[in-house]
Amino acid sequence: MAVQRILQVGHPLLRVRAEEVPSETIGSEEIEALVDELIETMRAAKGAGLAATQIGVAKRVCVIEVADNPRYPYKPPIPLTVLINPVITVMGPERFANYEGCLSVPNIRGIVRRPTRIRVTALDRAGAELDQVVEGLSAGTFQHEVDHLDGTLFLDRVEDSRTLCTWETFEEFHRAEFIERVKELEES
Ligand code: NI
Repeated sequence: MAVQRILQVGHPLLRVRAEEVPSETIGSEEIEALVDELIETMRAAKGAGLAATQIGVAKRVCVIEVADNPRYPYKPPIPLTVLINPVITVMGPERFANYEGCLSVPNIRGIVRRPTRIRVTALDRAGAELDQVVEGLSAGTFQHEVDHLDGTLFLDRVEDSRTLCTWETFEEFHRAEFIERVKELEES
């Protein structure tokens, strides 16, 4: 088990649709090692999530965790969540214009409009069924990671390329307005 290299935009394996994990293999050495590598690599890179495709493994496994993340200080906390074969259902018409970033897309952020109320079903690392409604900014985090398992990057969902910015220009020109909108969203 070790921190893995995170593939960068342009790498063909980021564009592969990952395969379902047969439920009888959950708990096997191979899947346990994959889950541990994802968690360790996500934490080392200070990401909010990481999908198996980002370390070149075409299996439908991703991990999410938000806890005092300096990369995303405005994000509501999410406990460590392991999703195997996740399925997302949109639960309502509301959307939020989120500035997304990705460990596979260095130093670029851009606005993606994400549903703010979703249902997530998946298996956890013990093979137990997980079924939860996720709201607000966190809903976007789940969608971003599940997109990776379909070979989709947030860049594909940026509707207006004029919203693209670097982390530095985000801080300088967009952060203040964005934080206000996040507060409104999380208080609604
Ligand atoms: Ni990503």
